[in-house]
Amino acid sequence: MRPLRGVPLNEKSPLTDTPAWRALLAHHKTASTLHMVELFNKDPQRFKRYSLTFEDILFDYSKNRITDETLSLLFDLTRQAKVEDLRDRMFSGEKINNTEGRAVLHTALRNRSNQPVFVDDENVMPKINAELEKMRGFSDKVRSGQWIGYAGLPITHIVNIGIGGSDLGPSMICRALQPYAHHSLTVDFVSNIDASHIDQILIKLRPETTLFVISSKTFTTQETITNANTAKAWFLNGAGRVTHNDISKHFVAVSTNETAVKQFGIDPQNMFRFWDWVGGRYSLWSAIGLSSVLYLGMDNFIALLEGAHAMDQHFCNEPLETNIPVILAMLGVWYGNFFGAESSAVLPYDHNLRLLPAYLEQADMESNGKSVDKKGRQINYSTGKIIWGAEGINGQHAFYQLLHQGTRLIPTDFIASVNSHQCNPTHCSILASNFLAQTEALMRGRTLEETREQLAAADIELHKAEKRLPHMTFQGNQPSNSIVLKKLTPRTLGSLIAMYEHKIFVQGAVWNLNSYDQWGVELGKNLTKKILEEIETNKNLHQHDSSTQGLLDWFRTHRTEEVKNNIE
Ligand code: F6P
Repeated sequence: MRPLRGVPLNEKSPLTDTPAWRALLAHHKTASTLHMVELFNKDPQRFKRYSLTFEDILFDYSKNRITDETLSLLFDLTRQAKVEDLRDRMFSGEKINNTEGRAVLHTALRNRSNQPVFVDDENVMPKINAELEKMRGFSDKVRSGQWIGYAGLPITHIVNIGIGGSDLGPSMICRALQPYAHHSLTVDFVSNIDASHIDQILIKLRPETTLFVISSKTFTTQETITNANTAKAWFLNGAGRVTHNDISKHFVAVSTNETAVKQFGIDPQNMFRFWDWVGGRYSLWSAIGLSSVLYLGMDNFIALLEGAHAMDQHFCNEPLETNIPVILAMLGVWYGNFFGAESSAVLPYDHNLRLLPAYLEQADMESNGKSVDKKGRQINYSTGKIIWGAEGINGQHAFYQLLHQGTRLIPTDFIASVNSHQCNPTHCSILASNFLAQTEALMRGRTLEETREQLAAADIELHKAEKRLPHMTFQGNQPSNSIVLKKLTPRTLGSLIAMYEHKIFVQGAVWNLNSYDQWGVELGKNLTKKILEEIETNKNLHQHDSSTQGLLDWFRTHRTEEVKNNIE
């Protein structure tokens, strides 16, 4: 047998062998039998009691399988896990990322109060502010047409090359805030090592008007550096009379690694910096946001930071009982750890938020997909849920069937905007009705009796109707949160993202794991290097299982034939 992951937990579990956990377990026995329809019927004030507003955002959590007792026990668990203490330690710059010995300070990047924040006795605010100023200066030049490319033309196309946190955040922001974008700039994002990705983008562009933003915290990520080299070759080969000096007009870097940036051939003057205390998946607030700044303008980026800062203040100052990220997190714990929910869906009803689910997949699953606690001890409870989702309206015609009538409990977050930037009242009203109808349907379901009545009203013959009944009833009782923005603006988006970041933080704290490392991505990276060597040399250099070896052989054989065919 393969040894267990982590040191076996011999002593009592600091989470599950506790009064708060046991009380929740006992409470779950009765709470799980309650139907939300009954809870709403019993309490006409339920929405009022279980909804909160934060600035221009409404958070409705009344359609959850909870009572006052549930919430009170969940807050007991939060207190027992000392979440507030860890929160304060994170905000103050303590090195809570214990496995990497780093502070976790994405919140300092948006600390618009400018109160000092110390890492190793250094106040980091001056360097954050200096970098923001540098981003403003550069983006103003590009956006105003003062930044001139090698052929004397202004920049019209931005290409961000990055992956993971160096791609998902900025691309999500650019798409979400597209109505605020510069009218004559386009932005594209290249992440995939599959050359189809970069080729499909480069084919549309002209080297003389393109600016590449190479975004990589480490500046060693294979996909990013390979794509950046391809972009550089495209620029040098395709641009006619260019020299290496012209690279500085068309390539900038965002990174923590100056040496690697220089090695790549980018002048450190064209480098925008951030620091090791910013996790990749939390870096959109840093210079990693440069492509969004170029596209949207610095003032909009600052508004995004301000929205996030406002949510930080809420998270730090609001009591647990009215603290939106805490409630969101603890509802997730309730379903994941007590109902056994495996996944949770994010369903935006705003086309501009279509990339939010992918962004949250990384933010949440790379943070809390852990099976040992902070001390390296094996965990005996489930941790990060599978986060998934897509635009709600499209999902209704695709996967919602399973939400409504499947066998699994899948808690959902519906996110909608009251006012669209594309003000077409007919579209707006239909979209809003769909969002509202879905949360209601998931909660209410449809009983046998209601279904029978409906079939009778539709004049369906009795014997046919009776056969259809079980297929047409809906159990309901599927929990959902509704997060409704008055409008998707830079500020509300900043608050929304920060809300999710803090939700992830709270869950990680309760589960007693380190949300800020990601060792799980290492093994695949290491094996890739070995297999690449075998593909490039066409030699078997390492031991593999028979499946991997078989796949490698098949790939090599067919690849060779393709190449042969191409040559012929
Ligand atoms: O491999 C995972 C990861 O390290 C993510 O955490 C990160 O966001 C991404 O790769 C990109 O890393 P980098 O910004 O260093 O290129």
